[in-house]
Formats: sequence, structure tokens, C-alpha cells
Amino acid sequence: MAGTGIFTEILDGEVYKFYADGEWRTSSSGKSVAIVNPATRKTQYKVQACTQEEVNKVMGMAKSAQKSWAKTPLWKRAELLHKAAAILKDNKAPIAESLVKEIAKPAKDSVTEVVRSGDLISYCAEEGVRILGEGKFLLSDSFPGNERTKYCLTSKIPLGVVLAIPPFNYPVNLAVSKIAPALIAGNSLVLKPPTQGAVSCLHMVHCFHLAGFPKGLISCITGKGSEIGDFLTMHPAVNCISFTGGDTGISISKKAGMIPLQMELGGKDACIVLEDADLDLVASNIIKGGFSYSGQRCTAVKVVLVMESVADELVEKVKAKVAKLTVGPPEENCDITAVVSESSANFIEGLVMDAKEKGATFCQEYKREGNLIWPLLLDNVRPDMRIAWEEPFGPVLPVLRISSVDEGINHCNASNFGLQGCVFTKDINKAMLISDAMETGTVQINSAPARGPDHFPFQGLKDSGIGSQGVTNSINLMTKVKTTVINLPTPSYSMG
Ligand code: G3H
Repeated sequence: MAGTGIFTEILDGEVYKFYADGEWRTSSSGKSVAIVNPATRKTQYKVQACTQEEVNKVMGMAKSAQKSWAKTPLWKRAELLHKAAAILKDNKAPIAESLVKEIAKPAKDSVTEVVRSGDLISYCAEEGVRILGEGKFLLSDSFPGNERTKYCLTSKIPLGVVLAIPPFNYPVNLAVSKIAPALIAGNSLVLKPPTQGAVSCLHMVHCFHLAGFPKGLISCITGKGSEIGDFLTMHPAVNCISFTGGDTGISISKKAGMIPLQMELGGKDACIVLEDADLDLVASNIIKGGFSYSGQRCTAVKVVLVMESVADELVEKVKAKVAKLTVGPPEENCDITAVVSESSANFIEGLVMDAKEKGATFCQEYKREGNLIWPLLLDNVRPDMRIAWEEPFGPVLPVLRISSVDEGINHCNASNFGLQGCVFTKDINKAMLISDAMETGTVQINSAPARGPDHFPFQGLKDSGIGSQGVTNSINLMTKVKTTVINLPTPSYSMG
């Protein structure tokens, strides 16, 4: 159970502590932030409302801990990460339980998130040992006008303090996807969890604590974004920000200093369906892509662009599958669970009502109880409807009928987002041409969009983000190149 067993020390009465200097602490503010269970709409947990002064202290510790960590052998950093991964996986049950309670993720998907996170940490440790253990050696006489008098040695060195801000929908996985690359590369790490997802994050951080990382190297600060958000992201000690979330990322990137940024800010992933597509495959992928975790994934299918000639048949197939989706509590592994908050449910409802007023065809009756919204497929959506462009982040999926492939590509490219997209066709040549034409960071051919496997590059164009993720790219982003040039008095050639 969350907050018990090995996790007892992270809880103070009914409020979870924050993590600083290798210890679990209560905030001097004396205040807490309530975490509301999306399904029951009652307070489930409480976390510390940390102060700006506490942020300052944590940053100071992170700066000094990083100096010694950068001198810790790479194999030793990897060893500690493997240990943390094992502890995390061994304790998947209480962590998954807190995911269920604070973000209403279905129980089995919550377990998957924790296990996937352990695997990510281990993979990152191995990849880090490989790619950070080698550098480059360049000779000067390959560039015109130079003789072989200079040997250039390059290696990757840490940035310093990395600030990680994961989103509510993958608080554990998208936290470790920032923490593990930062640590293996020799950085220290300050984590600001989302409010909903904070307790899962605190449990995850305790696994790193138990693994034995040095004091001050990892910190986890909880609290209200309105009080410590800007203070954290604009803090002079921060040398890199890795953020996943919504529009806030755009304002963070405008305010941040001259530091590397890794931002993933959502998407309006299009699913283009051609006449020759395997419609059963498309329908299954629309269900998986559009409705898993109730559509609350940045990589969810968010608009279907189907050729008119096959639209009726596809819509019927999807409708039949929507009817089989179970709706209810996350504890019972229902497919569709409550969306994260009342304001999120209200926003989704606003998009649905706009589509209704403008004449979209409702394939199911619109139904909502509290934060629980029943899955809804909207057919005959037109470009003048908000849902054709906006990201509902809920179990509501628009279908636009198109009369040409170009119309589909144009719709996809007119979006301010450019995360992923997908195309369904049996013709690989057409698929490749469409993939090249789509202005998105990734295009999936004959499958729904997805970030994983976690070592694949993952990036968005336009408002979907900056910087590429995936294990290798994250390690590279969290390092800088250091060069040493050896200057010889005369040209020298190794003669064999
Ligand atoms: O919500 C954003 C995540 O990066 C999506 O990850 O494709 O594994 O669901 P996923």
C-alpha cells in the first residue's frame, strides 16, 4: 500500500514529505497541497507546499552535489541506476496504486508504467556507459590549409543541474525519462512533479534514495506551480530544463535563460486512412490510439482523416469497438476512466458542444458523470469546428471525411502541433511519400502514434516541442561537448 512498508518514512501524518539533501522533510510553510482523486473527486493525498527559500536551498545542494557526482566513475553511476531500477520494479504495487488514485490510470496500465520505467532506467544506464565512454579524435590535416599538427579530442561533459518537470499522465515514466539520462551523464537533478502524480513521483524518488545516490544529487520539490513554478524554471542555478506538459512549456521557454531545453507540449496527431487500408487494423488502432488512458496521451490519435469512399465502413467498425469499451473505476481496469480534473472535463465538454451546434454526427450519446466522460466518436466533423484543431485530452475523437490524400496532409500540416501522425495503406510507396509530407516529428505507418519503445527518438515540430527525447537523445541533450586540442611543434604522422 502507498506510504507503507519501505515508504513509511516519506509520509508525515497525512502529508507526504518532500525530498532534499538525501532526507525526507516537511516544508517550513506549514502548508500542504491537496491531490484530488479524479474518480471520487475527494482529496486522496496531500503533499508539502514548498517555499521559494526551500527551492533556493535545494538548488545550492544540487550544484555542489553535482561537482562530486561528475567525478564519480561512469560504471558506478550506472550501477546505482540499475539498483534504483530494481527497487522500483520490486515495489511496483504501491507506486501503481498511487497512480490509480491520483490520476485514475487503470490498474494494469499503472503497473505497466512502473515496470516500463524500471526498464528505461536500466537501458539508460547501459546506453550511457556506451555513449559517454567514448569520444572523438580528429586530425587537423583533413581541413584545407592545415597540416597534421593538431590532435583534437572531444568528450561529453555534464551540464550541471537539470530541472525535470513531468506531466500528470505519466508522472513516473516521464520523470525517469528525464532523471536517468541526467544522472548517467553526471548531472544533478531537481524534480518538480505535477500536483496530480506527485505522490507516485515521491515513491519513485524514494527508490533512488534507497539505491544510495549521494545526498543532494536528487531533490523532489512539491508545491503549487503558481508559487514556485516560475521561481524554479527561472532559477539561475538551473542549467537545463526538461518539461513535458501543455502550453506552460511555451511560456517556460520564453522565460528560461540561455540553457538547453527539452520540451514536449502536446499534439493533434492525425490518422490518415487511404482507400486500400486494412480497415480492421485501422479500427483497432483508432481504439487503442484514441481511447487508451481515456485519450489523455499527447500521442493519442486526435483526428481521423479518412477517404470518403471507406469512411462509412470504417466508422461502423470503430463504433462497434467503442460499444465494447468499459467505463468506470480505474481499480476495475475499465478502459475509460475519469479524466484528470473537473476543468479538463469541462473543456472537453465545450469542444463536444461546439461540434454539436455546428452539426457533427454523434455516433454515441454524449454522457458525463462528474469527471467521467463516456467514449464518443464524432463523425462528419468539419474544419470550422474547434475539435478539428484543438486537443481534447479526453475520450472524444473527431472523424473528418476527406476527398483526397492532399486534403488530409493539408489538414495535418495546418495544425499548430506537429508531434506524431499515422497513415494506413497497403502501399508502402504512398506511405513513404505521405510520411515525408507530414510536418510531424514522427509518422507511424500502419500503427497508431506512440512514444515507445523508450529508446526511439521522440520529438515534436512547431508547438509540439523542442529537442528530441528517447534515451540516447536525452543523454546527448543533457551533455555538452568538451574539446581538448594538442598542438604539436611539427606535423606528425603515425607510420604504422
Ligand atoms: O503523453 C505523452 C506521452 O509522451 C505519450 O507517451 O505514447 O507512451 O503514451 P505514450
